[in-house]
Amino acid sequence: MSEKSPQATTDLTKGVPAASLADGEMILGRVGDDEVVLARSGGEFFAVRAHCTHYRGPLVNGIVVGDTVRCPLHHACFSLRTGEALRAPALDPLVCWRVDREGDRVVVREKAEAPGAPAPPSASEAPTSIVIVGGGAAGVAAAEMLRRQGYDGPVAMISADTDLPVDRPNLSKDYLAGDAQDDWIPLWPESFYAEQRIELVLNKRVTSIDTNRRTVRLDDGFERSYGALLLATGADPVRVEIAGAANGQVLLLRSFADSRAIVERTAGAKRVVVVGASFIGLEVAASLRNRNIAVDVVAPESTPLERVLGTEVGRYVRAVHEAKGVVFHLGQTVARVDGPRVTLSGGETLECDFIVMGVGVRPVTALAEQAGLTLDRGIEVNEYLETSAQNVFAAGDVARWPDPHTGERIRVEHWVVAERQGQVAARNMLGARERFDAVPFFWSLHYDTVIRYVGHAEKWDDVHVDGSLDGGDCTIAYRRGGKTLAVATIGRDRENLEAELRMERS
Ligand SMILES: Cc1cc2nc3c(=O)[nH]c(=O)nc-3n(C[C@H](O)[C@H](O)[C@H](O)COP(=O)(O)OP(=O)(O)OC[C@H]3O[C@@H](n4cnc5c(N)ncnc54)[C@H](O)[C@@H]3O)c2cc1C
Ligand code: FES
Repeated sequence: MSEKSPQATTDLTKGVPAASLADGEMILGRVGDDEVVLARSGGEFFAVRAHCTHYRGPLVNGIVVGDTVRCPLHHACFSLRTGEALRAPALDPLVCWRVDREGDRVVVREKAEAPGAPAPPSASEAPTSIVIVGGGAAGVAAAEMLRRQGYDGPVAMISADTDLPVDRPNLSKDYLAGDAQDDWIPLWPESFYAEQRIELVLNKRVTSIDTNRRTVRLDDGFERSYGALLLATGADPVRVEIAGAANGQVLLLRSFADSRAIVERTAGAKRVVVVGASFIGLEVAASLRNRNIAVDVVAPESTPLERVLGTEVGRYVRAVHEAKGVVFHLGQTVARVDGPRVTLSGGETLECDFIVMGVGVRPVTALAEQAGLTLDRGIEVNEYLETSAQNVFAAGDVARWPDPHTGERIRVEHWVVAERQGQVAARNMLGARERFDAVPFFWSLHYDTVIRYVGHAEKWDDVHVDGSLDGGDCTIAYRRGGKTLAVATIGRDRENLEAELRMERS
């Protein structure tokens, strides 16, 4: 569960005593019909729209860091001075208001003008053209950032998806649960790409790259040249063959089309078997329960999510699902399928209308491999997200990068990381030489329980739980050799932001 949203009552145009806000504090108020947050950073005061432009997170519950504010829900970061969305997942800016001092009071005035477009990068640094392979989190965030940085050259984004770039995390959550409409899912309407002069090429696959000639070839046979190339090809869901399964009986979930296909199959369905107790598998289970469909989860592990979140949290998540009627068949796999009957490796049989498989993903590296790039269980990149080929960058689920916080080369499958890498890669394509050093963050939703996780811990020797897991109010620290590698929180959004900040600074 997340913390409650506060109510705006104070009329900020009447002013508040400056001393009523300590450094780093925020208050929620109103300016006319608008809900506005007044924030103090040192001796300065700023007023911005109260809700995050990503999913309307209540910024007053976030934290002020220097002249920025971070959102408690998915850790977007905005400039308090200009409103710019400095770090994903928010991509659109906040509206700002002008603030005056009147004696010992702080008064919020009219809306401030949006800052003008930045100066274009110097022509000697900027590539002649940019091709982005992939229309997912990393690709979209990169394309948007190129334009935000004032890059004026041609930008083409080539995506094998049939749909406009979508809010992928929603596909297993509200959309699948029946709580979000189709038109909420695209990140932007088609007109956005035209306005931004981002050439969006959908339903086409890049089949090869020639790094010497700086060209990519598409599956329609056409070639395109690039000055700089971003590989943001993401990951594909793993399909494990099940003996006896009919064509179309086992559904995977990655794209909007996949999610629509599952929704279509839910019409009239009574029972579904979910193979895999991963984040995707469990989110699918929760969404199907929301549609009142009986769900059996089959997975080889003894505790769901144990590998990522440990036994205690895994058991808690299992209990959350069981309370909603999900039945787990753990320590087992599906041995075979005969029509609607699913036989498990332990001999038990289940009936189902269809099966959803969520057993993990594989980074899409075939293209990079063909181009001769260095691979390391993903595409190997340096701290600037450069691959082993000149002017070729990689970002998102496909990229393995040197993480300064763990001292290891890591690859993660998180929405926010993919977008932030896309943003850093974009700036580096324009010559910025910016290291990617963000602390990884992800969230996962199970009914009304949200788990937020910062850091990265593949192995740990100590798990410390502060608070009550059963009460849905706790902080879990994953440590190795005394060092905190990751922190998960349930019902403590602000603590998750504070943990992120501590990790950044340590
Ligand atoms: C259902 C679902 C729910 C999720 N929920 C969460 C969540 O709650 N929190 C979280 O942190 N993460 C979540 N994730 C993970 C998150 O969506 C991914 O980490 C993120 O999408 C990765 O972004 P990406 O740009 O690297 O890859 P993707 O978003 O997968 O995009 C890859 C793109 O590359 C294209 N492509 C691949 N090969 C080619 C080619 N040869 N030519 C042209 N195009 C190509 C694909 O068509 C696609 O457009 C979820 C993922 C799914 C599927
Ligand atoms: S709602 Fe603010 S980051 Fe998602």
